[in-house]
Amino acid sequence: MGDPRGFARVLESPIVNKIREKTSATRNALLGSLTFQRWASALPLTRPVAQRRAREVFDLCAGFVYSQILYACVKLQLFQLLSGGARNLSQISSALNLAPEPTRRLLDAAAALKLVERFGADRYGLGPHGAVIAGNPGILKMIEHHAMLYADLSDPVALLRGERKDAALSSYWAYATSTSATDLADARISEYTALMAASQTLIAEEILATYPIAQHRCLMDVGGGDGTFVRAVAAKIPSIELKVFDLPAVAECARQKFASAGISQRATAHGGNFFCDPLPEGADLISLVRIIHDHDDEPVRKLFSQVRRALRPGGKLIVAEPMSGSRRAETVGDAYFGFYLMAMGSGRPRSASEIISMLQREGFTSAREIRTRMPLQTSLIVTEVS
Ligand SMILES: C[S@@+](CC[C@H](N)C(=O)[O-])C[C@H]1O[C@@H](n2cnc3c(N)ncnc32)[C@H](O)[C@@H]1O
Repeated sequence: MGDPRGFARVLESPIVNKIREKTSATRNALLGSLTFQRWASALPLTRPVAQRRAREVFDLCAGFVYSQILYACVKLQLFQLLSGGARNLSQISSALNLAPEPTRRLLDAAAALKLVERFGADRYGLGPHGAVIAGNPGILKMIEHHAMLYADLSDPVALLRGERKDAALSSYWAYATSTSATDLADARISEYTALMAASQTLIAEEILATYPIAQHRCLMDVGGGDGTFVRAVAAKIPSIELKVFDLPAVAECARQKFASAGISQRATAHGGNFFCDPLPEGADLISLVRIIHDHDDEPVRKLFSQVRRALRPGGKLIVAEPMSGSRRAETVGDAYFGFYLMAMGSGRPRSASEIISMLQREGFTSAREIRTRMPLQTSLIVTEVS
């Protein structure tokens, strides 16, 4: 049982699943019974468990309200205001341009969610969650753009039935449903490119901490946006040569960013369609960061085959994105991205083992997952061409 994959296979075997199904049916019969619920909350020994379960179910029911409170805080720039230190209600109310009572309503709701913290009757500062968000422009931008996601999810059943044709996210991510992605003009790519750049920092750190990129001579980031990831690599590894491949308008942004960062000598940007235009050769490491979950299986197969063609024997590919079924990050892959990508109109979250099988079918070898510290940000698979 030393091999974790062997252990996972045992867990997925029909006999184990049958036993699990039977025990969960017994558990569910108990949990669903009002008598049992009353009994569990009355006994001091089971009360904490009953309280925790009730709280978790309530959080599921109220999650949309929490998200809207968070969105209001971000839209009103409350966290930026409180980053300068705690303030009185009257000061916050005038800075937010809200009447005092609704301001108090928002602040108390945000305090319950640990976004702010109350210090006395009329004084509020940043709470622990608010502090994390305030310190990360990427999270702030993600929350702002969630307004579109919430609108698209207003009728999730229509979305599931494919009856929603006007989803805002599908026009935001213009490449997802476009038939001529390479013709997308600046206006169609600039917003998502800026959002990706703002949310890339933590992911780049995670990849750099997990995979030894320094052992490579040349990295090409395919779908690399405005080059934020390769600039992070350039800052850490002075000798490495870098390339970005993305749609022509996005590659142009990367080119300008490389020039402003003074790294144009060793960082180049290439425009084209990664499904059908030949990828530049010469890299001994290719990365696909937050790319494949955006696309359906057949386009992903094409992309893997394109990447394989661009790599020489011994060349490696890393695939980094949040994945379905990642331990301690199940909500991000299956719940969040599952529905997000459905609204976007393309792609799906995949588990590490699914991606590994797809890579093997395209002729990649030694594909394996390397554990990252924060699977919520990204999981990581490395594979090679032999
Ligand atoms: C979700 S973003 C990820 C950007 C970047 N890798 C990151 O993690 O910040 C997807 C990127 O793939 C690029 N892209 C999508 N379809 C493409 C295609 N057919 N050819 C080239 N690039 C494409 C987009 O322009 C975008 O920059």
